[in-house]
Amino acid sequence: MKTDAFQLQTSTQEPGLETAMEVIFQWNYGSEVEELRRLYVKAAEAQWVSERDLDWDRPIDLERFASTPLGLSLPVERTSFWKAQSEEIRWKLTKSTAAFRLSNFLHGEQGALMVAAQLVNAVPHTDAKFYAATQTMDEARHVEVFARYIEKLDEIRPIAPSLKGILDQTLQTGDWMKKLVGMQIVVEGLALYAFREMRNLTEEPLLKDLLTYVARDESRHHAYGVQYIERCVPCLGDRERTELEDFALECARSLIDRNAQGFFTTLVQIWAEIGIDPNAMFTSLHAEREEITSDLPRGRRLGPVQGFVIPTLRRCGLLSERVATHFHGFLKDNFGARVAGANVEEFLQYLPDLPTDTAKWVMGELQ
Ligand SMILES: [Fe+2]
Ligand SMILES: [Fe+2]
Repeated sequence: MKTDAFQLQTSTQEPGLETAMEVIFQWNYGSEVEELRRLYVKAAEAQWVSERDLDWDRPIDLERFASTPLGLSLPVERTSFWKAQSEEIRWKLTKSTAAFRLSNFLHGEQGALMVAAQLVNAVPHTDAKFYAATQTMDEARHVEVFARYIEKLDEIRPIAPSLKGILDQTLQTGDWMKKLVGMQIVVEGLALYAFREMRNLTEEPLLKDLLTYVARDESRHHAYGVQYIERCVPCLGDRERTELEDFALECARSLIDRNAQGFFTTLVQIWAEIGIDPNAMFTSLHAEREEITSDLPRGRRLGPVQGFVIPTLRRCGLLSERVATHFHGFLKDNFGARVAGANVEEFLQYLPDLPTDTAKWVMGELQ
């Protein structure tokens, strides 16, 4: 967005958010966590440049764009209601739904940019500060490319309140380990899961290229979180570990709670703006539910929280039986026992392991 004259206060900025953060100097510049130092070198080697490495002159391929998953739990685009719309309305619906989803990726990236920059200040180990510096650069590039792509496609839509809530909490906490858990496990886990799905299914060439670069960076960000946090957790006392577990639980809960003002509420407003009657759409969706999902893969389809975020918490030593019971309870309330498991034992039993190689997994080379 261009403004005529340079100003200190812009009309698009939010009021300032008070945050509590301790800044830590570290006088040992030597490496304490070899793995993190290696990850930092890898990140430096893997830097890319949006202007040089992506072909922005290429127009968006509208026909191939249709393959892009909209991120809805049911395939709305298969309903007779959707199909009965004119081609123009159908394209508007596809475009605005995708732009809404991509906008939330974009705003999440801005949050990640700021949290990563905070981590440079707040984490006590030099290797971890170095790594957070490379992540900050990565996130700036992610903000840049998502904003550019959305503006080419449609327009940038507002952030979903639930996502804004987690970003605020993660930015506001004075505890650097909570920042790590909120950002590197919950937000990054969610992002990685969603980028992987979109990258592997979309056939739109520019979007696919962009997501390939972004998802590769994100798999390193997730690795940073896992490698650092799994070292930190065993050093914590019971009370501190409980607090950290609860922080992760609250972040994850606000993302999928259907009663909270989540993504869907905002999306329905966007549809209504296009002139679609959301009630008619839902009536059609419910009536045809069986039919439109009959050829979809059967069985347990795990979302990002159950399929990735919780397994990461378990790997990091942050899934006690106490917190697992809470996770199971709210997953069951939201998705039913068939997805969440009848009891905690079953829930834990069906929890997938993290992929052995996240970078390969994100490219669809591993299941
Ligand atoms: Fe990112
Ligand atoms: Fe990231």
